[in-house]
Amino acid sequence: MKYEQTIILNNGKETFIRNGDESDGNVVFEIFNRTHEETDYQLSYSDENSIEPEQEAQFLKEKALSPNETELVAIVDGKIVGIAGIEPVGKKYKVKHRAEFGISILKDYWGQGLGKALTKACIQCARAAGYDQLELSVVAGNDRALSLYRSLGFVEFGRNPRGFNSRISGYQEVVYMLLEL
Ligand SMILES: CC(C)(COP(=O)(O)OP(=O)(O)OC[C@H]1O[C@@H](n2cnc3c(N)ncnc32)[C@H](O)[C@@H]1OP(=O)(O)O)[C@@H](O)C(=O)NCCC(=O)NCCS
Repeated sequence: MKYEQTIILNNGKETFIRNGDESDGNVVFEIFNRTHEETDYQLSYSDENSIEPEQEAQFLKEKALSPNETELVAIVDGKIVGIAGIEPVGKKYKVKHRAEFGISILKDYWGQGLGKALTKACIQCARAAGYDQLELSVVAGNDRALSLYRSLGFVEFGRNPRGFNSRISGYQEVVYMLLEL
């Protein structure tokens, strides 16, 4: 899906949010790995990332052309500093009304409103794509993310006490949330 919007952040700076495309492959690959090293809240570790930058470029190209998937990038001072996207839960009739959301922002750029701006942009894309529901999962201790999602209307619908098994802290409870669109 195509998307473009400029937002003024809490600190007065501008961010340009747009869909990623083929030419962003290397940078998005790097951001994905860095953000997966900076916290223990993601689903995977950077050493488990099995795709190469060329495959990332292809993935972004396909997303840009897709009618119901997108991978957005947030640009501050000319640099991509965050990524967020939506994808369908499945293609079958019974689940194709549901989309999944994911987001990662470089730690240096947290707390400026980028998370909110990227999440709102993904909600807009999910509505435009015709989904009825946007879903996510989040580690119970990820207060910043939980606060962000609640502030945008996501509600909890369940928890898995041993949802993730962290290399650092052992089991992590995972919270499931949804937003009716
Ligand atoms: C979660 C994440 C996307 C939030 O991004 P961000 O740019 O810091 O978010 P924002 O600046 O838009 O702030 C979001 C909300 O969190 C709140 N917040 C900030 N710090 C907080 C803290 N320590 N505890 C609780 N809430 C906090 C803010 O007040 C804001 O709410 P408000 O706008 O209603 O005031 C970002 O921290 C991130 O990428 N983390 C690592 C990856 C990750 O956890 N992804 C989510 C997996 S589900």
